[in-house]
Amino acid sequence: MVKAELGIIGLGTMGSNLASNLLNKGISVSGYDIDEQKVQNFLKQNPEGFASIKLEEFVKTLNAPHVFLLLVPAGEAVDQILEQLEAYFDTGDYIFDGGNSYFKDTERRWVKLKRLGVEFFGMGVSGGAEGALNGPSMMVGGEKEPWEKKKWIFEAIAARYENTACVARVGNSSAGHLVKMIHNGIEYALMQLISELFVILQGGLGMSNDSIAEQIDIWNKKKIINNTAPNLYLLDITSRILRQRDENGILVLPKIDTITGQKGTGKWSVITALDQGIDVSTMASAVFQRFISGEPSLRSRYIKSVSSENKNSDRTAPDYLIEDIFQGFFISVLVAFNQGFNVLNKMKDDYFLDIVKTTEVWRAGCIIRTDLLNLIVEAWKGEETEILLSSNFKGYISNGLNALRRVLQYSISMKLPTPTLLNTLSYLDSMLYPELPTNLIQAQRDYFGQHGIRLKDNPEIKFHYNWKQD
Ligand code: 6PG
Repeated sequence: MVKAELGIIGLGTMGSNLASNLLNKGISVSGYDIDEQKVQNFLKQNPEGFASIKLEEFVKTLNAPHVFLLLVPAGEAVDQILEQLEAYFDTGDYIFDGGNSYFKDTERRWVKLKRLGVEFFGMGVSGGAEGALNGPSMMVGGEKEPWEKKKWIFEAIAARYENTACVARVGNSSAGHLVKMIHNGIEYALMQLISELFVILQGGLGMSNDSIAEQIDIWNKKKIINNTAPNLYLLDITSRILRQRDENGILVLPKIDTITGQKGTGKWSVITALDQGIDVSTMASAVFQRFISGEPSLRSRYIKSVSSENKNSDRTAPDYLIEDIFQGFFISVLVAFNQGFNVLNKMKDDYFLDIVKTTEVWRAGCIIRTDLLNLIVEAWKGEETEILLSSNFKGYISNGLNALRRVLQYSISMKLPTPTLLNTLSYLDSMLYPELPTNLIQAQRDYFGQHGIRLKDNPEIKFHYNWKQD
């Protein structure tokens, strides 16, 4: 029997679609899952492949050194399978964890597997089920030399941006999962921003789903910066979702429950940003909004108890508002990316992160793909490390800032929930306000806790001021 090049562990949707993608590229694959049904489905879908519910049988079908690709749920399941695999490891084996593992778990596993002589790579895989089948974007963390030997496998199946494969080693050990986590934090922010766009257009202006979809399509194709149109994947699928009707011709979206799930990557991104001292308020408010959506009974108590009599039912809006919404939205998209990149830039040295490659692999295949990423790649190649201040974006931000402000004036007057847009504006206003009122906080800290203050004309010296003198 010809042995397989790669063994996939976990034959759910992602595992079996990646297997089909690999087989389509002529790469032999073997599969393992504890669920007999999944093994059978895999074999039906991939008749040229091999699959088993027996780990030993599965390992025997693999070429040496073994190359394992894990696609099991993040967390305990990864540790469990790694423990079971220990009995079959040979020095020089490769393991790629393609799930959304927490990067600190990946770091711990990397250290342990290194000791066992196994090359471990945390690999963020983005693009969902369709991406897995037709070309995902992949962010890999691990050692350079072994990666160079096996990268051809992933280059063969990756999405392509102008013929460049959207897969790269973005740094050491857990860098791949760190980068994927921040990708997901940005993903949360973009999805929430789009839902706020929707609430303004529908809940505020009273537009139908079809006309919102039409508007979104126009915006997504409109050149906004340097002859570049956004082509934001998430906007593209939004317009399709908005138009989707069931078999009776009824719109599907209004029938969907509003409680939003989450698996943790957005929350981890925000926790990591807090640890690093980076403001990701756009991203954070997107996570918080998912929490709020998960409290329907608390929300209905609020709705019953707190008067909202002043609801402004006048839906007329100034003519310029549509253009303002467009600009305010894309400014917020850029801020979401900026905040995510700020976290990565802060952690760059610890994980040997390659920020340019990270940006490049996000240009196709992944969920946050947009042609604006190409402009961000250009920004990195200049001097600037803060993308909003780069020559590609600073003019756009300056021109659109007041558009965002007017949109928020409207949404606030209409009592529409737009916290992520609002946090974005507050973020920019804070950056732009010449004299933050935080000297008052310093004074308060010193007043009650003797934490010390510094004077502007002598910042070297920190001292406690004697506040209570009359
Ligand atoms: C991707 C997605 C993918 C998955 C998220 C969803 O890049 O393909 O990010 O990994 O859809 O994990 O996360 P939540 O369930 O937390 O929304």
